[in-house]
Amino acid sequence: MRKHPIAQMLTIGVVASLIGIAIALNIPWFPKSADTASHKIDTLYDVLLICSVPIFVLVMTVAIYSVVKFRARPGDMSDGAPIHGNTRLEIVWVTIPFLIVTGLAIYGWVVLNNVEAKKPNERMINVVGQQFTWHFQYAKNGATADPGPCGNNGSKAVTTNELVLQKDEPVYFRICSRDVIHSFWVPEFRLKQDAVPGITTHMRLTPNRDGNYTVVCTELCGLGHSTMRSPVHVVNGPQFATWLRQQISSGVAAGGGVGSAGGGGGTPSANTGGGGGNAGGAAGGAIAQGKQLFASNGCGGCHTLSAAGANGTVGPNLNTLATSAAKFAKQLGQSPQQYVFTSIKNPTAFTVPGFPKGVMPSTFGQQLSPQQINALVKYLLSVGKG
Ligand code: CUA
Repeated sequence: MRKHPIAQMLTIGVVASLIGIAIALNIPWFPKSADTASHKIDTLYDVLLICSVPIFVLVMTVAIYSVVKFRARPGDMSDGAPIHGNTRLEIVWVTIPFLIVTGLAIYGWVVLNNVEAKKPNERMINVVGQQFTWHFQYAKNGATADPGPCGNNGSKAVTTNELVLQKDEPVYFRICSRDVIHSFWVPEFRLKQDAVPGITTHMRLTPNRDGNYTVVCTELCGLGHSTMRSPVHVVNGPQFATWLRQQISSGVAAGGGVGSAGGGGGTPSANTGGGGGNAGGAAGGAIAQGKQLFASNGCGGCHTLSAAGANGTVGPNLNTLATSAAKFAKQLGQSPQQYVFTSIKNPTAFTVPGFPKGVMPSTFGQQLSPQQINALVKYLLSVGKG
């Protein structure tokens, strides 16, 4: 006995849905989870897949079945039967999706509320996005202290270029941007939040697995977008305390004035003048400070500089900076120091031929003091001789 077309479609649809759900649930969509919110989000995804696959299959089964079964036979030029809507069918196909979408929205809202709930003793960390790197600001005085407004390098905070978290300690992130929209995402934590210039966004999570992960920028933010990645380390309590203490003391040393950080030795090339010990020590200090600034401002995201272990390719290679600075400075009637200083402070003034204009962020002039830019210039010209 031949089955009714609807019964046939239903049989095909149910079988295809079950196969589709089995495949969808067995695909490893995410890496192994590393925070307490992950399993709720993974379950939400599974529920969405279980609801979506049958709808996709239903639409495709009806479409393909109709195309095959009711196609025009060769030579059949007659019109189809005149039909006018079907009220009952229309009510059904409006009501069912309405109920599904409303149910899923409520479920999603419950999960979001749960994930974003305030937890006791949260550590507050500022996340600062900037073309093309991330910075993290920790409060210096205690786990739950406020590191100050996001993006401000105040005295209350120490700024780092890696995100280190303590296992099982709840974290409250304040997220902001210095230039364009970025998006803060660590796949193992599942949660994602935009960094938007002018406002501060928030995220809460509790890491629960040791390991090394990566912050990935997931908002197209310019030429270096794909290189905008920073390391994340989840460590135990004592390791975290030691790391934070080191960050605070080295931050103080680097900011603590020229001449102290690089001290006695400095690099041999710093003592170019062969002058007194004080001059050599000061130059060494500036170079050490410049090296630290190069790392903490994310310059390596775009530039190659072997001395700093950087291999970015968005902007000019700085291994040969001394030579190119001499050449371009001569064209512009400046000293190489002036040329490099201006290139950092006001990068639109001159663009190295072969590189697109306006890619180098123009924000360093506000973020760095003239003294800090001078330290960077000294550092770059001393190591860029390769
Ligand atoms: Cu920042 Cu993409």
